[in-house]
Amino acid sequence: MLAWFTKKDLAGTKLDGYLLRDQIGAGEFAKVYVADAPDGKGQVAIKVLGLSEVRDKDVVKHFERQARLLEKLDHPNIVKIHAHGRTRDQLWIAMDLAAKSLDKMLGDQPLPEDLIIDVGSQIGGALQFIHQRRIIHRDLKPSNILLGTHSYVLSDFGFAKVLDSSSVVTINPKKVMNLHYLAPEIALGLPVTAKSDVFSLGAIMYHLATGKAPYNGTNPVRIVEKQLKEPLPNPHTLNSGISYELGMVIRKATTVEDRFRYPSTADFVRDVRACRHIQPPKEAHQCLGCRQMVPAEFPRCPYCGRKSF
Ligand SMILES: Nc1ncnc2c1ncn2[C@@H]1O[C@H](COP(=O)(O)OP(=O)(O)O)[C@@H](O)[C@H]1O
Ligand SMILES: [Mg+2]
Repeated sequence: MLAWFTKKDLAGTKLDGYLLRDQIGAGEFAKVYVADAPDGKGQVAIKVLGLSEVRDKDVVKHFERQARLLEKLDHPNIVKIHAHGRTRDQLWIAMDLAAKSLDKMLGDQPLPEDLIIDVGSQIGGALQFIHQRRIIHRDLKPSNILLGTHSYVLSDFGFAKVLDSSSVVTINPKKVMNLHYLAPEIALGLPVTAKSDVFSLGAIMYHLATGKAPYNGTNPVRIVEKQLKEPLPNPHTLNSGISYELGMVIRKATTVEDRFRYPSTADFVRDVRACRHIQPPKEAHQCLGCRQMVPAEFPRCPYCGRKSF
């Protein structure tokens, strides 16, 4: 873990009219606070990088690039940015406030197929949108997928790569990426493509479908060795609650050799969406807490954790 954080708790601080309240998250480089927007316009999330602590110009450059990139990306499954700026010694981005990130929903229990199809088709749709614009996210992991009001949204474009840009990537993505979901070509330092993002999304779906992260370890090259020796099984064989067809989509997305993966992100999204129609209708009820539809066999709502319905 890289310790660039500001030591000071910023709760109570005002950044350009945004009043910071509680801290709700922290990543490798930034802290995230809930904040009151100016003029009583509700609440937002503010991601803050403390410049007084951060002397690394590259981290600052990536943070600023992230804000400029997000400003250009208008898609229902990409987090919406409200404003960004530099106030005193803080760099910040204000964005839509989400309920939580997907990592908070992961335990060691599998999640329902409908939820996995929602994540795959919605985040896949966001990937399709950025890939059409020749942008690769490169840091897809559960903590960078947020549960918005009605949908999943992709966030944290801190390591996104614009394929046509001449800007040199100065932070080694291997240092910060979560190895569980890392595409082998990134681990090996080979060129990154849209297929690398689809691999990571497939690996996240595998985790959701089985309750187990696909590959463990701390050494990227060892992980690729494991990936080559033991390809991921169809999640259906580990959890019969997952259809064979959705399992095949996950397998194809996470094939180690990228020439055997989906030729395009659009193909992946089409196949994920097709899985919705092959399921037998399940008995489900609406959670009284978060109003999501939950299969009857779940004693607890997998979205908000509420016990009874
Ligand atoms: N818009 C948001 N709404 C609610 N929580 C958020 C939001 N953005 C980030 N978070 C929380 O903060 C964590 C860190 O944010 P992230 O953007 O991933 O920072 P980093 O670039 O340091 O990884 C996320 O995993 C999530 O739990
Ligand atoms: Mg993050």
